[in-house]
Amino acid sequence: MSETPQKRLYIKTYGCQMNVYDSERMADVLRPLGYGVVNDPEGADLVVLNTCHIREKATEKVYSELGQIKLMKDRKAADGGGRMTIAVAGCVAQAEGQEIMNRQKAVDLVVGPQSYHQLPELIARAHRATGERLAADFAAEDKFDALPAERQVNGVTAFLTVQEGCDKFCTFCVVPYTRGGEWSRPVNDIVEEARRLADQGVREVTLLGQNVNAYDGDGSTLARLVRRLAQIDGLDRIRYTTSHPRDMGDDLIEAHGELPELMPYLHLPVQAGSDKILKAMNRDHTAESYVRLIEKIRAARPDIAMSGDFIVGFPGERDGDFEKTLELVREVGFASAFSFKYSRRPGTPASAMTGQVDEAVKAERLERLNQLLDEQQKAFNAGQVGKVLPVLFEKAGRHPGQVVGRSPYLQAVHAEGPESLIGTIVPVRIESAAKMSLGGVLETSSALETA
Ligand code: 5AD
Ligand code: SF4
Repeated sequence: MSETPQKRLYIKTYGCQMNVYDSERMADVLRPLGYGVVNDPEGADLVVLNTCHIREKATEKVYSELGQIKLMKDRKAADGGGRMTIAVAGCVAQAEGQEIMNRQKAVDLVVGPQSYHQLPELIARAHRATGERLAADFAAEDKFDALPAERQVNGVTAFLTVQEGCDKFCTFCVVPYTRGGEWSRPVNDIVEEARRLADQGVREVTLLGQNVNAYDGDGSTLARLVRRLAQIDGLDRIRYTTSHPRDMGDDLIEAHGELPELMPYLHLPVQAGSDKILKAMNRDHTAESYVRLIEKIRAARPDIAMSGDFIVGFPGERDGDFEKTLELVREVGFASAFSFKYSRRPGTPASAMTGQVDEAVKAERLERLNQLLDEQQKAFNAGQVGKVLPVLFEKAGRHPGQVVGRSPYLQAVHAEGPESLIGTIVPVRIESAAKMSLGGVLETSSALETA
């Protein structure tokens, strides 16, 4: 981008991929008002922090960032640079909007995940009434209908929200309170958005939802939606996240066996391996039923890469319970995973449970779990060496002459090649593997010709 935008918008995104999607959509909402995205908050006209409430650490980060932004706001005013408007969006805004206003006076407005389409109006009002500080109406409205149809995407991959909210009420989790009940977008709206993305050169979409496999827009299922999307010209890869084991329907499992567009990677959080803990978490599945489910999925798509989320130190978790988490990990074999220390979230049932676990014990368990998960990830990556994988190249690499893309299993892959490969899917012979990425060479010279 060579032109300096009229008004500078800085958005910082915390947390999950849905926040990444929401941040892009906020930029889409604000673009017609003359806001262009910049990479540095210093001197910006509007700063939006799109926040995450899932764990205490994520929430605390927001308050410390706000302290920094306030200093920039003061500097801008002192330098005669005009006003910096500060907006807090996302799940912390939803959960503790008033507290944010009280704790940080420099914040001009707060807006939750269901109401960011109101940003233009809120900003206009904040600017009109000097000193007025505003909170969006947090009632769920038809946000998607109010968002512009046009999206500006820069890459060859994109996120697409198809479902929001959660009715599962895992006892540790704030999501059912911050994002509300499960709700699915209509099929045709999603197909239309995906078509527009494909027209802009997007080759891969990741369908997003807090419980994406509970998708039931217009009585459809996620599997049926994926089949519709797979027919869109130019859209060659489809992924989805995050799923719940309870909603892993047979038709979705079948789709994994049948649809080449559906990538062989599945993020399916299990959280723990002890049935006692799973019950206390209100997960509504057992360790055994999870393992059986994975077997079924692997019967349909043997090479599928499994990913999961884990929590250590949930209230009441004893050494023996934790050992069962390790056992489950050994039994399943994960290609990647996210693991967390249990974080006590106000208002959730687990925060009031007896048997809260010592921080030092949590840290020690996390370390042991991570060691095992790291070994599995390295082994999974090492297992690709010698294979030829189709790689969707996404961007130039850090070294000149290098391009970076993703394998079907979501591994980053580096190879020597021209930037003209970006946006193409090319066979790459994998020659090396590390924990986070693979290295390879373009398999055929014909790959270059098709680029
Ligand atoms: N403490 C720790 N981890 C949590 N998660 C959700 N709530 C908590 C909490 N209170 C984790 C779960 C979930 C992921 C998105 O975040 O593993 O799957
Ligand atoms: Fe939170 Fe459980 Fe819902 Fe996932 S399924 S968002 S962990 S309550």
